[in-house]
Amino acid sequence: MTRTVSQVRRLEGTVALPADKSVAHRAALFSALAHGESTLNNYPTSADPQSTLGCLRQLGVQAEYSPIGQLFIRGRGHDGLRAPTAPLNCGNSGTTMRLLAGILAGLPFATSLVGDSSLGYRPMTRIARPLQQMGAKIRLTDGHAPVHIDPARTLYGITYRLPVPSAQVKSCVLLAGLKAQSSTIVIEALRSRDHTERMLGLPVKQIQGKRHITSAPHLIPRPATRTLPRDFSTAAFFMVAGSIIPAGELRLPDTGLNPTRTGLLGVLRMMGADVDVARERVVGGEPIGDLTVRPAELRGVTVRGAQVPNLIDEIPILAIAGTLATGRTVIRDARELRVKECDRIHAMVTNLRLLGANIEEFEDGLAITGGRPLAGTDVSSFGDHRIAMAMGVAGLVARGHTTIHGADAASVSFPGFWDVLTSLI
Ligand code: S3P
Repeated sequence: MTRTVSQVRRLEGTVALPADKSVAHRAALFSALAHGESTLNNYPTSADPQSTLGCLRQLGVQAEYSPIGQLFIRGRGHDGLRAPTAPLNCGNSGTTMRLLAGILAGLPFATSLVGDSSLGYRPMTRIARPLQQMGAKIRLTDGHAPVHIDPARTLYGITYRLPVPSAQVKSCVLLAGLKAQSSTIVIEALRSRDHTERMLGLPVKQIQGKRHITSAPHLIPRPATRTLPRDFSTAAFFMVAGSIIPAGELRLPDTGLNPTRTGLLGVLRMMGADVDVARERVVGGEPIGDLTVRPAELRGVTVRGAQVPNLIDEIPILAIAGTLATGRTVIRDARELRVKECDRIHAMVTNLRLLGANIEEFEDGLAITGGRPLAGTDVSSFGDHRIAMAMGVAGLVARGHTTIHGADAASVSFPGFWDVLTSLI
């Protein structure tokens, strides 16, 4: 599907963002592992969380929607999961594949995890290695999916220092730890998103500047009724759009504000953005608030090191902000972008060059010298939801018309994105 977006002078309105998909995956998985019925009030309809739900159903978990859209999940613990009759289909979702692998590693039946072509290129050795250290029987093909898991006699607790700051790897190991004989400790030097440890209530210690997170069999999840926070990572597209379009105001109520996710908010404010946060509160164990965004003159900024994990998914849209800022915007230490749903460094450099931006590519990031006006043309989503949405926002500021090929990729995290964007014009 292609979408054509034209330059606008004004954006105005209130955006009903979808629920956070990182939180949603975990809420569904942990509900399945709990003993009893859980209710998820606003489980997202987007493709990735639905992939997790599909896999759970393949594992015999009952998950049903009420007429008003609440999702009921009947958890029967690890022992309630049944051998699937076909490979588990994780679609485009790395979180589904990596977290499920941690859960399945300790179960008494064999499973295979498969996904689409994008997921098939993403590195899986990063989960296979620690799981094998725990005694799991995992086979990959050249470091990639399909992930074959055979029953392991016993899983042993390990202490694992994360070689990359990845919440998916951290969560995978911690989830395997729920079925291990002794405690498992994951040590992270750079803090990645902490939804798993928050939702499971895992003990976390700060030792010499590093986080030590423990999981153990007695820490299995409990059934719960949850309202999920709205997705900060989706809000990011509207935070940048509302900042760079010359007139109007965007309101983003009930947005998740977990500090391990909101790196972009601090960076945009450093750039001079006018983003107001009101009514900060905690819902379902996650901080949320109401955001209001107004247009502002932006300045270039440098982002690197420990800042990167807390805005890793927001870098494509931050690059769009960089094209409108005065001076240079530099993003380094972001090599992980090369192994997301696509190579996001290559995708953004290619698309922004086509639009006429002054952009340099590095192995671990990019640099943009802002101020050169963008001119609409044909660009590609590279099959990646965040690239599709970032280019949609770029189309609002580029002169003339910008056609995004593969625009339907947005439905991986926000099926309503294009309609919402149109409603704000
Ligand atoms: C996620 C973790 C991040 C992020 C992804 C979702 C999660 O990936 O990019 O969109 O829900 O745990 P990594 O763990 O690979 O950094």
